[in-house]
Amino acid sequence: MSDLVLRPPTLDDEREAYAASAELAADGFQFLLADGDWAAQLEQFRREAVGDVPADRVPCDFLVAVVDGTVVGRASVRHELNDWLLRWGGHIGYGVRPQFRRRGYATEILRQSLARLHELGVEKALVTCDDDNVGSSRTIERCGGVLEDVVPGPDDSPALKRRYWVPTAPAA
Ligand SMILES: CC(C)(COP(=O)(O)OP(=O)(O)OC[C@H]1O[C@@H](n2cnc3c(N)ncnc32)[C@H](O)[C@@H]1OP(=O)(O)O)[C@@H](O)C(=O)NCCC(=O)NCCS
Repeated sequence: MSDLVLRPPTLDDEREAYAASAELAADGFQFLLADGDWAAQLEQFRREAVGDVPADRVPCDFLVAVVDGTVVGRASVRHELNDWLLRWGGHIGYGVRPQFRRRGYATEILRQSLARLHELGVEKALVTCDDDNVGSSRTIERCGGVLEDVVPGPDDSPALKRRYWVPTAPAA
């Protein structure tokens, strides 16, 4: 899967990023995580990546997954955990556009996101998903995730959450 590139978004990605956002909204998944027009969002992503964040946020990388010039998905890689992320959100969030699913892209996005955390000195990543999200739990298990527990979700999303710890070092 070496043809999938996980990289920060650019001005040229605007149209596809908004298309992906509309498609993933149907799954109740928030693809874009910043405010304002596209240029303002890129600026917010840049600030978050260098840790210029409010007290209740952690540094994170917003990365688009690109295959043959097309945005197929995205990852949010949080450099550390706060209380909310430790309980529910985890280090890494990802989504793949519906028309590009079942091709191994989520697995590759998670693999590259884990490598990014490894670079940052995080040895084990917490990755969570809804208990009934078979595609996501299989993705996490394929990347070496070990189930820690299954916990009630936050008030605004009461579905049970599966919490996995995943080693970030590349498989030997
Ligand atoms: C969950 C999601 C990321 C999976 O993306 P994907 O690119 O299709 O996943 P992959 O192709 O890498 O598949 C990984 C594994 O999950 C399995 N899988 C993927 N979708 C599945 C589904 N709907 N049902 C059952 N198994 C599924 C694949 O078969 C594969 O397992 P295998 O190698 O043992 O066969 C994608 O469906 C998605 O974006 N959903 C909406 C957003 C979301 O739920 N994000 C995760 C939040 S925690």
